[in-house]
Amino acid sequence: MTESEAMTRADIVARFDRMARVAQEGRRILDSRPDGAVDEGFGTSGYRDTSGLPDGALRASLGCGDPVGVAEPRPGETVLDLGCGGGLDVLLAARRVGPAGKVYGLDASAEMLELAKANAAEAGVGNVEFLHAAIEDVPLPDAAVDVIVSNYVINLSADKPRVLDEAFRVLRPGGRLVIADVIAEDGLDPDRRAEAERLVGCALGTLTEADYRDLLARAGFSTYTVTRQRAVVGGLHAAITQAHRPDAPPGILIRPMRAADAEQVLAIYQAGLDGGNASFETTAPAWDAFDAGKLPLHRYVAVDAASGQVVGWIAVSPVSGRCVYAGVVENSVYVHPDHGGRGIGLALLNALIESTESAGIWTIQSGVFPENTASLRLHEKAGFRVVGVRHRLGRHHGRWRDVVLIERRSPVVGR
Ligand SMILES: C[S@@+](CC[C@H](N)C(=O)[O-])C[C@H]1O[C@@H](n2cnc3c(N)ncnc32)[C@H](O)[C@@H]1O
Repeated sequence: MTESEAMTRADIVARFDRMARVAQEGRRILDSRPDGAVDEGFGTSGYRDTSGLPDGALRASLGCGDPVGVAEPRPGETVLDLGCGGGLDVLLAARRVGPAGKVYGLDASAEMLELAKANAAEAGVGNVEFLHAAIEDVPLPDAAVDVIVSNYVINLSADKPRVLDEAFRVLRPGGRLVIADVIAEDGLDPDRRAEAERLVGCALGTLTEADYRDLLARAGFSTYTVTRQRAVVGGLHAAITQAHRPDAPPGILIRPMRAADAEQVLAIYQAGLDGGNASFETTAPAWDAFDAGKLPLHRYVAVDAASGQVVGWIAVSPVSGRCVYAGVVENSVYVHPDHGGRGIGLALLNALIESTESAGIWTIQSGVFPENTASLRLHEKAGFRVVGVRHRLGRHHGRWRDVVLIERRSPVVGR
């Protein structure tokens, strides 16, 4: 982070420290905002039910939606609130997860956390813990929480991609993220947009729906939706963004493939080719060629959660440059030979299906040697059908081989 960004965050934190003092003095923070600020629809008005919560939490409420109401945390789950402020969403989540669950409230403002702790004490909840930290550097281990909520905070970050990367990292496989935030319409005049952002206090600018979708996909979320809730001012809208991390078998994490994974990915590729039934290729490509041929947003690795070792990967290539085939891709999935039979291939395929459908891709196809019955079974489990057998399609180690053409047509994209 540059010095000016660090200053900006310090300025923002100082501003929220001051706001927390307003609530500590018994006033509603939204009433203390400068003249002309747009407050309608913010704070407690975004919630269905805040009965029984301490006044201090209600006075401090600054959100633009009800992410806990959308995420619906279940008893026993662990929830993280990014930028918890005075703790209203922490208390709502704590009620839902009950004594068997736990809620972390994270905020960079020490004064907001003091307020949140006092509110939690007044509410008599014991299953909460507050973290004085930045949403860009969450002090929790990987895969630590079931649910992440965040209410009108991410627009305040100078490094929004990093916030979503961190959210992905700390979510457990299958975990869900629900963000209430203000977003901008596409194509707004920059001056008009900046003025609207100023009026609603988005000090570091808003994202558009397309920005959110792109950042979520890059972070590795396999499903994501951005739903506008209401117009706010000047082309800005309060929106709820929902995303989830790909599910995985016990002891495995699925995350985006990175250049640093190249050596392990290519070694697994080569091991598959050496088995003789994976592909016509006999030698795995160099990373540059692999990287250039695969779509960047639909590559995942499965890693051992304890060691971080890559145990499988999946990626897709476009089948054609022709416009009509824009939503048709061909997949490759490889699992390390020592880790077969653990459900890793199916988890990778499911992650790919979700991420391609989220991006509007309608068909995934693949060619499989008929002898590779494990791969045919795996793809069938993931909803692929056999299109037909292509006879004597190519020579492999001097022998003509058939290829089974399989495909999965999405039931949700392009119906
Ligand atoms: C608009 S308030 C929303 C608070 C709360 N979510 C609510 O709904 O009332 C934004 C909160 O995010 C915190 N915040 C802003 N930038 C942050 C960052 N980079 N890391 C952690 N917290 C941050 C502020 O201190 C403040 O408490």
